[in-house]
Amino acid sequence: MNRAVYNQLVKIIYDKSGITLNDNKVTLVSARIAKRMRVLGVEESSDYLRVILEDDTGEEIIHLLDAISTNVTRFLREPDHFELLKQLVCQWLSDGQRQFRFWSAGCSSGEEPYTIGMTVLDAMGDARINQRILATDISTRILKECLRGEYVSVKVKDVPAAWRAKYFEQEGRGRDALFRIKDIVKRLIVFRRLNLSVTPFPMRGPMDAIFCRNVMIYFDTAVRKNLLDEFIRLLKPGGYLFVGHSESLTGFVSTLRCVHPSVYIKPAG
Ligand SMILES: C[S@@+](CC[C@H](N)C(=O)[O-])C[C@H]1O[C@@H](n2cnc3c(N)ncnc32)[C@H](O)[C@@H]1O
Repeated sequence: MNRAVYNQLVKIIYDKSGITLNDNKVTLVSARIAKRMRVLGVEESSDYLRVILEDDTGEEIIHLLDAISTNVTRFLREPDHFELLKQLVCQWLSDGQRQFRFWSAGCSSGEEPYTIGMTVLDAMGDARINQRILATDISTRILKECLRGEYVSVKVKDVPAAWRAKYFEQEGRGRDALFRIKDIVKRLIVFRRLNLSVTPFPMRGPMDAIFCRNVMIYFDTAVRKNLLDEFIRLLKPGGYLFVGHSESLTGFVSTLRCVHPSVYIKPAG
């Protein structure tokens, strides 16, 4: 791919998603769009660029972002976050709270929102609560996987046996087994396509906790700053923001206080 085509693609990707790609990602971008080019029967990246530019429906941009986004995730990723979430929910329950709102922002194929769901179900025991988990991503392809909630056995290897028995239906055995999220977890989740780089968001909040982990690493300072302002608006006073362990908010926001590695609270009052 020549430099001029690459630069135009990078600009389109940034404008439409906030994802920042630097000069050394040419090979990565070429590899990721290759499959889409084959589907379209297009051989040159310059021709693919033309398809994008001439498409008035916006459909091709969605395919481009599907191809570019990095969707690596897993159940119970950064497990200390879920231990903390369980403690928080227990505390809020003992304070009398019965309605809970959570958001997995950049939910990928669902492992994160489903882990939130299973953690909260465990914490609530027999309590009757009203719980909703909003799961959003920019990629329509990955959201379909999230909604399907079906995982091959290697994907659930870190899920405790008790959770597998309680929250998954197993089809088949051994390496070919398929694990399907049960309805008691799935019905807690509301799935939406949402572009985190376009603010303000349509939600009103207040949220008890927002998980936006391993997403902001793809954004530049301007996009991160707007996103964090929106998270602060949507969190309840005393609500929590969880980011990825490799992400730091130092220097970005003064409103939030760090209470645990990569966990921030919006102070009450
Ligand atoms: C590496 S995954 C992280 C998944 C999960 N949060 C975790 O930590 O395991 C990053 C996700 O962010 C999504 N993403 C990237 N840019 C986005 C944007 N502008 N708006 C919404 N989602 C975005 C990608 O599609 C991808 O599914």
